[in-house]
Amino acid sequence: MDKIIIFDTTLRDGEQAPGASLNPTEKLEIAYALAEMGIDVIEAGFPVSSPGDLESVKQIAKGIKGPVICALSRAIKLDIDAAAEGVKPAKRPRIHVFLATSKIHMQYKLKKAEDEIMRLATESVRYARKLCPDVEFSPEDATRSDNEFLYRIIEAVIKEGATTVNIPDTVGYTQPEEYGILIRGIRENVPNIDKAIISTHCHNDLGMAVANSLEAIRNGARQVECTINGIGERAGNASMEEIVMNIKTRKDIFKGIQTNIDTRHIYKVSRLVSKLTGFVIAPNKAIVGGNAFRHESGIHQDGVLKERSTYEIIKPEDVGFMGTGIVLGKHSGRHALAERLKELGFILNAKQLEKVATRFKDLADKKKNIFDDDLVSIVEDEIKAIKPVWSLEDFQITSGTKIRPMASVNLRYRNKLYSASSSGDGPVDACFKAIDKITGTRAELQDYRIEAVTKGKDALGEVSLKLKAKGKVVTARGSSTDIIESSVRAYINALNKIESL
Ligand code: KIV
Ligand code: ZN
Repeated sequence: MDKIIIFDTTLRDGEQAPGASLNPTEKLEIAYALAEMGIDVIEAGFPVSSPGDLESVKQIAKGIKGPVICALSRAIKLDIDAAAEGVKPAKRPRIHVFLATSKIHMQYKLKKAEDEIMRLATESVRYARKLCPDVEFSPEDATRSDNEFLYRIIEAVIKEGATTVNIPDTVGYTQPEEYGILIRGIRENVPNIDKAIISTHCHNDLGMAVANSLEAIRNGARQVECTINGIGERAGNASMEEIVMNIKTRKDIFKGIQTNIDTRHIYKVSRLVSKLTGFVIAPNKAIVGGNAFRHESGIHQDGVLKERSTYEIIKPEDVGFMGTGIVLGKHSGRHALAERLKELGFILNAKQLEKVATRFKDLADKKKNIFDDDLVSIVEDEIKAIKPVWSLEDFQITSGTKIRPMASVNLRYRNKLYSASSSGDGPVDACFKAIDKITGTRAELQDYRIEAVTKGKDALGEVSLKLKAKGKVVTARGSSTDIIESSVRAYINALNKIESL
């Protein structure tokens, strides 16, 4: 069997998506989940970019056992030193050096000629190899680079000790056939290519990231760089779950090829990344979208009832999707709740279970049937990676078509109660203004969305919002059967997140 190394860059390229900021605790939580799922390499960050990023990479390198822990670096000594410091605590560290090789980047961005780029690439890989036994090199914008120059630079960095050569489609420009030919060309024209692994790194600007990565595998690439839910710069990166499930589902095409990923973790990790980054997953997103396993038309439902494979090419349970059947209600006990949570992949300690059980009872009083997605939403809401600074005690609103909406909000901070009232353009706006008065924040709401978690009039409403305050932009969520309460919870979560960054 030929193994494909899955290199996850959710915490580096994924976090570069505008508004996807994660704090160090959240990054560590995601890194644990990635390791548990069987990811081979975790790109934990870009240490020179900020002291916070360096610390976060160090924490991951110290705490996560199993995968290779990688840090990004430009072809500059200062960057390489920071990357080396970041990954030093890891059992299996890697430094990833990148430098652009396309004419357009060399001329306009770097203002350097080919020979200067060649010198910088070789010197930086040589230097990185002195600090770390595992070094990856990326000729940035490889797909728009001159092939002959690309072959020469790849040969030179391998001579200096690069163990992986990554071929980034930085701007998502290439097409599957073209990218496959490029990978094959590298295999056929770089004399020492057998001494390194060829890697793919595809962006999704033309919606081709996954198709391009798969074509590269068919032409000899053995590492794939990707992110959970395909998040990343601009239109994002190749999505991990789509690549892995293509390989698994189409064994007839990907003959003899396998990955280390325990696919039953996919749904849970996807939800975790969505929750912590605040990036909502489109319902029609392949593999992890809310509709990925829903059959609406009568003909399809009939087919699935007779034989699932008529309309399902993937078993939902193979990606950890447990369905949306009614699971619990008002009379379900704590034991049943803990058991169901365990089945959904959440092992909670006594204190966490207590919190979730209280929210569950509140919800069961308002809502007859509690679905798996309701439970996941409660757990994700309660078991947050961020220590709450402000928490909601209660609120009251008066609103109507002929009166100006008013809100009174009570928040708790270190066991003390704080209150404020405000009017607003609507009840949600009034609540946010009252919270701003209490917390003394001047926040700018940049995005606000509401979505029903499950079906029915009593469904939980989940609010996701993007907030800018104190020079930071964060995304956060909150859920409740009352959409004003969901909004208030999301707003408080966002303020707490800003405090934690
Ligand atoms: O897209 C890109 O070129 C990158 C490199 C740093 C590998 O993210
Ligand atoms: Zn990238």
